[in-house]
Amino acid sequence: MNDTTTGAGQATAMRTHLCGRLDASHVGSQVRVCGWVAKRREHGEHLAFVDVRDHTGIVQCVVPGTVDVRSEYVVAVSGTVRHRPEGTTNPDLATGEVELGDCEVEVLSAAEPPPFAVDDRVDADEAVRLRYRYVDLRRPRMQRNLRLRATVLGALRASMDAQGFCEVETPLLWAPTPEGAREFAVPSRLHHGSFYVLPQSPQLAKQLLMVAGMDRYYQVARCLRDEDLRADRQFEFTQLDLEASFVGQDDVLDAVSAAVTRAVEAVTGEPVPPVARMTWAEALDRFGTDKPDLRFGMELADLSDVFAGTGVKAFAAPAVKALVVAGGAQTSRSRLDGWTDRAKALGAKGLAWFRVGDGGALDSPLDRFLADGERAGLVAATGAGPGDLVLVVADEHRTACTVLGTLRVEIGGRPVGEGPFRYVWVVDFPLFDGVDDEGRPQAAHHPFTMPHPDDLGLLESDPLAVRSQAYDLVLNGWELGSGSVRIHRADIQGRVFRALGITDEEAEARFGFLTGAFRAGAPPHAGFAVGVDRLVAILAGEENIREVIAFPKTQSGADPMTGAPRPLAPGTLAALGLRALPPPS
Ligand code: AMO
Repeated sequence: MNDTTTGAGQATAMRTHLCGRLDASHVGSQVRVCGWVAKRREHGEHLAFVDVRDHTGIVQCVVPGTVDVRSEYVVAVSGTVRHRPEGTTNPDLATGEVELGDCEVEVLSAAEPPPFAVDDRVDADEAVRLRYRYVDLRRPRMQRNLRLRATVLGALRASMDAQGFCEVETPLLWAPTPEGAREFAVPSRLHHGSFYVLPQSPQLAKQLLMVAGMDRYYQVARCLRDEDLRADRQFEFTQLDLEASFVGQDDVLDAVSAAVTRAVEAVTGEPVPPVARMTWAEALDRFGTDKPDLRFGMELADLSDVFAGTGVKAFAAPAVKALVVAGGAQTSRSRLDGWTDRAKALGAKGLAWFRVGDGGALDSPLDRFLADGERAGLVAATGAGPGDLVLVVADEHRTACTVLGTLRVEIGGRPVGEGPFRYVWVVDFPLFDGVDDEGRPQAAHHPFTMPHPDDLGLLESDPLAVRSQAYDLVLNGWELGSGSVRIHRADIQGRVFRALGITDEEAEARFGFLTGAFRAGAPPHAGFAVGVDRLVAILAGEENIREVIAFPKTQSGADPMTGAPRPLAPGTLAALGLRALPPPS
């Protein structure tokens, strides 16, 4: 990794060396280190041990006499590097062979007792950690995560630069764009009653840059979305956003692969094998999701043929899908009931289960309703053996797949940051993702995505069957990034807007600037955005992107440190032309 981690060459006016870099090669040198007191122990009146920590590690300092310091005091310590006495070396510490002897300690600033110990082994409450984030970030794990993040960003930028992409910054004060998430609005002081919108992504700006002839654009872009926070979602997050002209899907996939590979290699030192590719339809059918976690099997089996024309009422559905839990035959009844409730909560009408016994015998409340051929067909199609459990959902194809896909991960899945890293490109997404309450198709990616050329003719007659030229990069079951070939022709954009139920007048009012730009000569273009927080979290082995963001929000969208969000003073509101309503009771 780079210098943010090694701390090379950081002698300054105040210190000669970094704490964690001292080793036997320095024995005999007179040094001065600076940092925080990690621990202090007194040995009678004549000897004190002070462990001093900076971002590189901890060194033990031996002080003759007593010393008036406490945990987290900031100190400068001068002393001589020497071997630790025999039997007192500490193999857990990088500096464990040496110590600083005959130390003089200068207190640079005193500190109140910390709210929790600055130690990876101590688990403090999330809210307390975020309230005192400046203390939390002193922990080695958090130091490592933020430095790993810097390494990733550096490598992504280097790759983009090397590939001829030009970094351009786009505005944060922007206008609404239809990318699916709720947006943050910023009131205008100069135009009372009007609002800027913080960008969900630089999507439209980068398309305009293509019309502007930038050819290859990228940006490490802050994006803002007012959506429910989860392990992989924050209000504010960072994308490696890119767009290129005169390219097709494969060019974008290659450019993104090169950038991600460079970042991963910079962190792990391991080359990334070529990334597999799978269509959206295949991912749904085999894994029940558009974000397949390829670190484990448990692929869904299809029993639709086995139960075609079945007399079992519960299985008379367009699709019958199955999930095998290897060795799961002993699963308790209460656990099975729990999975059934979960399946119902996910939209299934129910969940059938079959314990497989010797010779393919089935144990299930439904078994007595099955025809012999169905019993044999179920065992053959799932490949289940004695001791296994088969879970079955019969429903619309998509529902059956997604319910079992979720159970697959909940039953068999592993933490996202646990290796190995299994990347996959998911391609050929549908253009529309179901319909809203009024029967209007909803854009699966965003409305600027180019339909698949073979399906253009279906746009008006059968919109839900239209595939798009959209693609996602998936890593260990998380969507790492997503992109598409864009519509660059005003006529096709108009047809897609109309399919979405957006009238020509509405489109003109909301995105007239974009369609107007297309009329100015738009090159064919395509792009992508990598979720940097997610990539860094997985590389850091973390389960939540909060752990790789310096100052994240809590689950409820608050910042316990600054107190944001906070009411504004009435005068400030008035200047913005606003009056606050009382909070809803
Ligand atoms: P999309 O909305 O899929 O596409 O976002 C791209 C990637 O950004 C990351 N991401 C998030 N990360 C953390 N918190 C969030 N709330 C959050 N939302 C999204 C994910 C996701 O895959 N403009 C398009 C890209 C394009 O078409 O070029 C876009 O933003 O990793």
